[in-house]
Amino acid sequence: MIIIDSKTVEQTKVEVGCLMQPEQANIAGNIHGGEVLKLMDNSAGIVASRHAGSNVVTARVDRVEFHYPIHIGNFVNCKSKMTFVGRSSMEVSVTVLVEDVFKDEEPKVALTGYFTFVALDSDGKPRVVPSLEITNEEEQKIYDESQKRYMEFKKYKNNIE
Ligand SMILES: CC(C)(COP(=O)(O)OP(=O)(O)OC[C@H]1O[C@@H](n2cnc3c(N)ncnc32)[C@H](O)[C@@H]1OP(=O)(O)O)[C@@H](O)C(=O)NCCC(=O)NCCS
Repeated sequence: MIIIDSKTVEQTKVEVGCLMQPEQANIAGNIHGGEVLKLMDNSAGIVASRHAGSNVVTARVDRVEFHYPIHIGNFVNCKSKMTFVGRSSMEVSVTVLVEDVFKDEEPKVALTGYFTFVALDSDGKPRVVPSLEITNEEEQKIYDESQKRYMEFKKYKNNIE
């Protein structure tokens, strides 16, 4: 029998930062949405593959919202953490903070979203991942919302099969 250790939400947290470059922007200097989504996918993917201890693939992206614009030269920080674990799937929430490095201001929330990954074994088949330890009420609330999305997907999949 394989015993897989669970992890706390705190232990899953990852932050990935970078400075936005001219080639990532449109002619007015706004960073393309897809560029930021790639950063979010990368950051969330680190959380998922570290938790799973194996290769993971993105299966779904939910509720991505663009709250605040990002421009060339801004510093962007993607904060990611695990919100829910199924059998082989994991949901990771990502909050993107943006900061104008020339201004003495608090970073602003630019984007939020949820990324679902599936852990794969060496044959490319879904594999079981460690469970997630919930340690407080706030984490439980977020876990319950994620579980709702997971159950809705299962219902949808059963209906189309
Ligand atoms: C994700 C993928 C491996 C799932 O394969 P599958 O044959 O549907 O696997 P299963 O039906 O056994 O489901 C495995 C898990 O994935 C979850 N899952 C599959 N598709 C999903 C979706 N669209 N959204 C959310 N979860 C999904 C299932 O709920 C299940 O979760 P659980 O084990 O925690 O209960 C497969 O669809 C795939 O390879 N997709 C392409 C992924 C990819 O290339 N991503 C990069 C994008 S460019």
